[in-house]
Amino acid sequence: MSDNKLVVGVFAIVLCISHNAFADAEKGRAVFAQCAGCHMVGEGAQARFGPALNNMVGQPAAGVAGYDYSQAFKQLSKDGLVWSDAELDAFLKAPMQYASGTKMAYPGLSAEEDRKNVIAYLATFTATDQPAEQVVDRKETENTIEQSNQSRPLARDAILPEHGVLHLGRIALPEEIAAWDIDVRPDGMGLPEGSGSVETGGELYDAQCAVCHGVFGEGEGRWPILAGGHDTLEDERPEKTIGSYWPYLSTVYDYVHRAMPFGNARSLSHDDVYAITAYLLYLNDIVDEDFQLSRSNFLSVRLPNEDNFYFDDRENEENYVLSAEPCMTDCIEGQARVTRRARVLDVTPDGD
Ligand code: HEC
Ligand code: HEC
Repeated sequence: MSDNKLVVGVFAIVLCISHNAFADAEKGRAVFAQCAGCHMVGEGAQARFGPALNNMVGQPAAGVAGYDYSQAFKQLSKDGLVWSDAELDAFLKAPMQYASGTKMAYPGLSAEEDRKNVIAYLATFTATDQPAEQVVDRKETENTIEQSNQSRPLARDAILPEHGVLHLGRIALPEEIAAWDIDVRPDGMGLPEGSGSVETGGELYDAQCAVCHGVFGEGEGRWPILAGGHDTLEDERPEKTIGSYWPYLSTVYDYVHRAMPFGNARSLSHDDVYAITAYLLYLNDIVDEDFQLSRSNFLSVRLPNEDNFYFDDRENEENYVLSAEPCMTDCIEGQARVTRRARVLDVTPDGD
């Protein structure tokens, strides 16, 4: 594309999508880099830490179906707030003041120009059918990023927080801690409310797990096997599965919730994970096909190999308790003697 055409192209797009006379959606796109860690926008956008931002301008607040808004935002929605340009501008200036208690832990855009531009940018994703076509001139984008950097506060000008020893960062929000604190313990601590049946689990498993782990948990190709292997632990090549080897059901729940499906981790709801866990028990012949797993009956399910795991008891074990302090220096009197050679002991491969 010649330079001339490019200039005309950018100009035309700005004309079409410009939301108000002073705002520049293309510049807003560069400002949006600050939001993109938490928000997606455009075709196929999904929730990240924050909701997808399609159809925001002119729409009711907290309106993205399925997104878990904070209490503060639910209240805004009850109050009938609509995201007009002016409301968005006030919100983005200081989100945490505007909606005290919001999950949007973001200090805000102090420069009015940045706010106008980013709102204009969001407005280009308001038509439900077609996201606005974007023509990006690399150089322009770099310039606008540079410009918006100039209006951003610099680290050296920041006011040091009062808290902590190092006076760094900010205190984590309860929601942020909750997002990390997802472990489930063998005693059931950490299990969320929810339930799911073998039947539902089977459907989810076939759709999301069977490609890799096989229809019966037998493992496709070299993907891990999830079922079977009973009574193989003493074999030369034991088959360690959930049924044959894993000690606690909580590990299954935690692992699937945390890490699976591979490549799309954390996409399953609590009910989905209960259902899939129930189905994995079924594949391992531990429950019947009409079984329903829930938080309340979770601890009643025991995995067959549980007893072969026990807490580290070495401090009380005879060998440790009875032996004296281990010798750490000059433990042999006189000179050390070689008694046998590794090759004779057969631990070194023969290399003629
Ligand atoms: C640290 C993560 C984070 C950043 C950065 C962030 N947001 Fe948000 N945003 C959120 C969360 C979380 C919510 C939901 C608020 C709630 O439920 O309290 C939200 C809500 C919103 C909403 C209202 C959504 C609705 O459905 O009503 C808009 C609009 C918005 N953000 C725009 C922006 C823009 C524009 C930026 C960048 C200038 C930005 N956000 C930066 C996390 C973030
Ligand atoms: C794209 C392939 C793929 C898909 C789809 C997939 N997994 Fe996995 N799964 C893996 C891989 C790879 C590992 C081993 C990961 C590792 O060891 O780091 C694994 C490990 C596991 C394990 C632990 C196995 C063991 O004995 O260590 C379980 C349980 C599991 N997956 C369950 C599931 C469930 C349930 C689903 C569907 C919701 C699923 N997986 C979807 C690839 C996949």
